[in-house]
Amino acid sequence: MPNLYLVGFMGAGKTEVGRALAERLGYRFVDLDAMVEERLGVSVQQVFADLGEAAFRRAETAALRSTVALDRVVVATGGGAFCSAENRDIVRRGQGVSVYLDLPWEVLEARLPGPSPERPKLGRPEENRRLFEERRPHYAAATIIVRLSGEETPAAMAEMVDRALVETTCAT
Ligand code: S3P
Repeated sequence: MPNLYLVGFMGAGKTEVGRALAERLGYRFVDLDAMVEERLGVSVQQVFADLGEAAFRRAETAALRSTVALDRVVVATGGGAFCSAENRDIVRRGQGVSVYLDLPWEVLEARLPGPSPERPKLGRPEENRRLFEERRPHYAAATIIVRLSGEETPAAMAEMVDRALVETTCAT
């Protein structure tokens, strides 16, 4: 069974959906940010502050690479992970199925806090919007795109992802 990688912008609910989906499928849930924190022994926030974004991205790529050896896992990626060609390649070569949680910008914007050390990539609203637009084509390169309104519960979103997975598997 292929591993599943949830991708999308901050605030899309990748972690909550990931947990619900893993439970539904009987898979293990893995949070990529938590893996980075475990490997480096410090929070994502601290990695950004002390070592910089490039160090975070290297650790993120290394953590992602290590998930390829795992079996039956749902991986919630960080919002920037699928925006690197190297990372998308790791997922593809590892036979992973990537799933974009596609929410309207207005919904994401309403969910996101202002600039906060906990979310080092967030800035002013217009900067966040620009970042989202830059990233969207990368997210859209996922194997499966699940369009969401933002009204769904994590369990309902997990069900939608599951259905899309079945449809994709049947079609190939
Ligand atoms: C990031 C998103 C965060 C985390 C880090 C960088 C990004 O994850 O990986 O702060 O570049 O969008 P979430 O998408 O889970 O917030």
